Amino acid sequence: MDTKTTRISPEEIARQGEFCEKIQERLAAQPRAYLAFVDTYGCQQNEADSERLRGYLKSMGYGFTQDENQADVILINTCAIRGHAEDRVFGNIGALVHSKRRHPGQIICVCGCMAQEQQVADRIRESYRHVDLVFGPHALWKFPELFYRVFSRRGRVFENTDEPGSIAEGIPVVRQGNVKAWVSIMYGCNNFCTYCIVPYVRGRERSRLPEDVLAECRGLVEEGYKDITLLGQNVNSYGKDLGLDMDFADLLAQINDIPGDFLIRFMTSHPKDASQKLFETMARCEKIAPVFHLPVQAGNDRVLKAMNRVYDRATYLDKVKRLREQIPDVVITSDIIVGFPGETTPEFEDTLSLIEEVEYDALFTFIYSPREGTPGAKMPDPMPMAEKKANFQRLVDAQNAISAKKHAAYMGKTLRCLIDGVCEEEGFALTARTPGNRLVRVKEGDESLIGTFQNVTVTGANTWSLWGELA
Ligand code: SAH
Ligand code: SF4
Ligand code: F3S
Repeated sequence: MDTKTTRISPEEIARQGEFCEKIQERLAAQPRAYLAFVDTYGCQQNEADSERLRGYLKSMGYGFTQDENQADVILINTCAIRGHAEDRVFGNIGALVHSKRRHPGQIICVCGCMAQEQQVADRIRESYRHVDLVFGPHALWKFPELFYRVFSRRGRVFENTDEPGSIAEGIPVVRQGNVKAWVSIMYGCNNFCTYCIVPYVRGRERSRLPEDVLAECRGLVEEGYKDITLLGQNVNSYGKDLGLDMDFADLLAQINDIPGDFLIRFMTSHPKDASQKLFETMARCEKIAPVFHLPVQAGNDRVLKAMNRVYDRATYLDKVKRLREQIPDVVITSDIIVGFPGETTPEFEDTLSLIEEVEYDALFTFIYSPREGTPGAKMPDPMPMAEKKANFQRLVDAQNAISAKKHAAYMGKTLRCLIDGVCEEEGFALTARTPGNRLVRVKEGDESLIGTFQNVTVTGANTWSLWGELA
């Protein structure tokens, strides 16, 4: 495989900055403030991308609003992972025809993973004529240039050329909040799980240079961020494309060495690349949070093989065992797909027995959704939806019982938690996160504690949540 990653030059990014300036000059000459609304779907990777798109919009002179009727620019950052996600986005894009009618100068942009799909771009071109700009994740770095074409000529622009992908440094960023931050360390995916669209819309795996990641993390710690989550579709294979003598565990250790009181998290890990070295590094480095999202997808070997997951049940369980040997109280979470094409109910029951065996702290559960262009979409899928839904419910019920038991074990414990926000629920003042990232609602406490670590005693627990008091 070609391991040469295209790196967008600093001159190119500076050129994008010039487009921002041109727009900024035009807006500054207007008698009112101009506003943008950025709507994000999908995973943390998309959230992180939206922070960069906001960075560009801010450099253009836009302020921000959550109200699409007030917005001069609407940017919808979409997700293609399941059909349901796409339907929602099409519904929302369709509804924007009304806001554009009220506000003809409005510029409507659709970006993200759906926009990379040719059939989606075609559908928008034909049937959603109020959309002005469509661009996929590969083109994010040149958003100012694309936007300027719409802004100055008012023609429609489509940019979703398929490519392995590139890396751009130096894009401005407007982060959401000042306690937690996302840091993308790599982009794309090489795994081609047979159900998954991500490799088709996000391109090949490519890593940022360690010095760029470290500089961003150092900056965040200096700005006072307390919780840094490193992002990638498969962070465990970080660095493999760089040809450096450095892997993901080494990167974690170097971030851990940055002075300051903060936590490091990461997601997502592919079980095939989750190494003993990584587990040992986590155990040794005090800033790495004791939490591991390790998606298993299914508990049956035939299904895992058909999914092209490359590990089997025994290997997965062995990794969980070794992880727990290193970090006994580690919080482990997972993703499960129910109803992969050809999965029988007895095979699904292997997933049930696996989750009983592992006892995850939490699960993200999905019913299989066929994605056009993936191998899974061509596989025979005889199981009726009613049976898939019944299996799905069995899984949810089993996990609820496990979660209730796990939560009950927190009762009476005092943990060093990060206070991360105001709790909107009645009877509670703040939200806090345990070291393992479990949410605890805190009864009383001042907002000035947000962004600090505090000892919280857990005084209540049910299936879904924990609550407690400042110790
Ligand atoms: N890179 C990560 C996550 C990718 S998407 C990983 O490898 O785990 C997040 C989750 O969505 C996946 O883990 C999977 O459980 C689910 N998912 C992906 N494609 C899906 C599909 N076609 N139908 C249903 N769920 C899907
Ligand atoms: Fe999709 Fe598999 Fe890549 Fe995750 S590892 S993004 S599930 S192809
Ligand atoms: Fe969705 Fe793209 Fe993330 S498809 S899950 S937004 S990588």
